[in-house]
Amino acid sequence: MQAMQEGENTKDDLLGLMLESNMRTSDEDGQSISGMTIKEVVEECKLFYFAGTETTSKLLTWTMIVLSMHPEWQDRAREEVLGVFGKSNLEYEGLNRLKRVTMVLYEVLRLYPPAVGLIRKTYKEIEIGGVTYPAGVLIELPVLLMHHDQDIWGSDVHEFKPERFANGISKASKNPGAFLPFGWGPRICIGQQLALIEAKMALCMILQHFEFELAPSYTHAPDNGNMMRPMHGAQIKLRAI
Ligand code: HEM
Repeated sequence: MQAMQEGENTKDDLLGLMLESNMRTSDEDGQSISGMTIKEVVEECKLFYFAGTETTSKLLTWTMIVLSMHPEWQDRAREEVLGVFGKSNLEYEGLNRLKRVTMVLYEVLRLYPPAVGLIRKTYKEIEIGGVTYPAGVLIELPVLLMHHDQDIWGSDVHEFKPERFANGISKASKNPGAFLPFGWGPRICIGQQLALIEAKMALCMILQHFEFELAPSYTHAPDNGNMMRPMHGAQIKLRAI
């Protein structure tokens, strides 16, 4: 804030924008408006840190595990990456052309959604599906259960089958609204595009330079306590190629 007040401002980034809002008390027409409080700025920073790092790292971790379990898909994804980029540096346009890698990431997000449920609290009496709830009730939309519902995805629901996303999300299941790794509605994940770009970049660089398999010590135990994570870690052996 001191740097901003001294004119060395850095409002090009998120923190700068929020601090600028905090310092602003009136708009261009001199109307009084209230910007973000410092508490709100701090809470927003915490949210971005938590929501932006834990989630994407879980997605990448599960992707490494699943591609170790399914070497045929690891090969297919690597073939695509090498076809688009070779062993050169990545570029944005190429990332958008990656079909198999995107299918793999979607299928990992379906089987192991980092956010296993979406929670809402009623702020007034409300009727949902014929049931009336008073104010103050916590309601959870069980994303994990929806992603594993046989009636929606078919009898192979528990299998890793990226090809179900070959024609996009809307054609992957009987109910396009059932794929909710990033939530839905007004609170949908603000970082979903960034997350997918980050995940694609990291996965591409790993596939370009390494083959990988599970270490014998790996035990498959998905834990959905807080965020979906491998309970005993992800021990993976990488071999440079
Ligand atoms: C694989 C990665 C990610 C997953 C699975 C994910 C998932 C989600 C979900 C399910 C929500 C909605 C929560 C709700 O409705 O209660 C959400 C919200 C949010 N996400 Fe993400 N997220 C990811 C990456 C990111 C990244 C990279 C950022 C920022 C850099 C980010 C920032 C946020 C923020 C700020 C919200 C709150 C939006 C709001 O309430 O208006 N997320 N995320």
